[in-house]
Amino acid sequence: MKFDFFSVPRIVFGRGSITRLADLVDASARVLVVYNGSDSLLWRAEEILGRPTTQFRQRGEPIVTDVDAAQATARDAGCDFVIAIGGGSAIDAGKAVAGLLSNGGVASDYMEVVGKGQKITKPSAPWIAIPTTAGTGAEATRNAVIGWPEKRFKASIRSELLLPRVALIDPELGVEVPRDVTARSGMDALCQCIEAYVSNGSSPMTDAVAIDGIELAGRFLRRAYDDGRDIEARRGMALAALFSGIALTNAGLGAVHGFAAPLGANFPVPHGIVCGVLLPHVIRANRSRGVERYAEIDRALGGDAEQICSELTMHLKLPALGAFEIRGDDVAPMVELAKRASSMRYNPVVLDDATLEKILREAL
Ligand SMILES: [Fe+2]
Repeated sequence: MKFDFFSVPRIVFGRGSITRLADLVDASARVLVVYNGSDSLLWRAEEILGRPTTQFRQRGEPIVTDVDAAQATARDAGCDFVIAIGGGSAIDAGKAVAGLLSNGGVASDYMEVVGKGQKITKPSAPWIAIPTTAGTGAEATRNAVIGWPEKRFKASIRSELLLPRVALIDPELGVEVPRDVTARSGMDALCQCIEAYVSNGSSPMTDAVAIDGIELAGRFLRRAYDDGRDIEARRGMALAALFSGIALTNAGLGAVHGFAAPLGANFPVPHGIVCGVLLPHVIRANRSRGVERYAEIDRALGGDAEQICSELTMHLKLPALGAFEIRGDDVAPMVELAKRASSMRYNPVVLDDATLEKILREAL
């Protein structure tokens, strides 16, 4: 057995831990805050820091022009430190900006698959990730996912040099997150733990966190959705999301995330909805080809994984993909693109075109 394991060097976790922010930022740093969600959190962060910051609001999932604009804002203000607060979109945008501040160039220079694919060679500008949505685990991953609308694709800038200095995770920040965001972010976390667990890049290190994340999401996602103020559930989901990030950045993902790259770039569908809706179909396809590790996932979830995930998407009221203008005619071209996505190669078995088309058609 051989594996590499990369990790965020410091995780500060716990209720009220946002109040420690000032201690984690260099006193002389000029700070860019990349954020999404509510402005109140931005104000709170500034208040805790005790000094003014420069801000960039990330709207929607980041695309190349967002990252380049955020970098320009940072450079104009002489920023040398980044704080990213919010959902995965803000965290990934902040991660990319921190990398560009020290490496130079623009986002497309470093993007895999569709960009120039240059290597990140210098450590990022120091940055802190403060996730609020308990979903993507982007606080613990070494890639920033960025859309490129003209290329009709989403791809990553990837390097362990992009990991944040600190992941600051305060489950209390989750209580303000709206229900629909809780639902889709939580399904992303669960999906990432499941895909990482069965991935052909998994290791004992990633298995340990992934299976714990599966259990936590199975136990707490419904509760966090049903009552957003249930702090125990928010804490469980914040941990599940963190574990999903640690697992995926080392183990890779699978066919669900393979589909997510082209679908998210070509249709107005949030990432977590793609994940939640496709997950049961991919479990069925993989399992029918003899992937045995789902038996351990069944145990962690306390029942049949496919059935539980399917019931969960219904309980969380995730709409089918047809609600986002994805039609039967789109299936074949999306499968063609999904096969190029970096996640697809980690799926535990190779799924042929007919199977991939069936999976997507069933989720419309
Ligand atoms: Fe994801």
